[in-house]
Amino acid sequence: MKIFLLGYMGSGKSYIGKRLAERIDQNFIDFDEEIEKRENSTINEIFQKKGEIFFRKLERKILEEIIALKEDVVISLGGGTPCYGNNMELIQASNEVTSFYLKLNIENLTERLEAEKAHRPMISHLEEKNKLEEFIRKHLFERGFYYNQSDYIIYCNDKSSEEIIAK
Ligand code: S3P
Repeated sequence: MKIFLLGYMGSGKSYIGKRLAERIDQNFIDFDEEIEKRENSTINEIFQKKGEIFFRKLERKILEEIIALKEDVVISLGGGTPCYGNNMELIQASNEVTSFYLKLNIENLTERLEAEKAHRPMISHLEEKNKLEEFIRKHLFERGFYYNQSDYIIYCNDKSSEEIIAK
């Protein structure tokens, strides 16, 4: 079985995914790292030099490849991966994929992302905290439509990483 972790930026997909993979002795793929490796550039550079459409196409290509892998793996997707094209349909259509939405509230996401926005081109321009929160609220409302189609939803607000991994 392939385990896909979905959720908004800052929801802990990479952190949880890496530890979960160790725990169940499966390989781990961090989607953003995979993109950076292939392009030999950071996500910021890809957005700046090649633009978001290029990034989304590459994201789609890598998603198709990962779904086709024979191996059981844990994958932390990019926050936008399920929300473009028919990517979520593709994820849902695979019998070998089980998807988990790591759900956090807007306040927690804003707190986390305020400290971690520099390497995230979707939000790095939002200097004031209230602007960041406003953006996240609207963006999450739109993206929730996709995230909520996951097989399981894990409410992470009041859970430790140990509890999330156990779930
Ligand atoms: C994005 C999320 C990022 C990364 C890129 C775009 C998005 O991944 O793929 O900056 O559109 O939400 P993380 O969710 O790992 O930050």
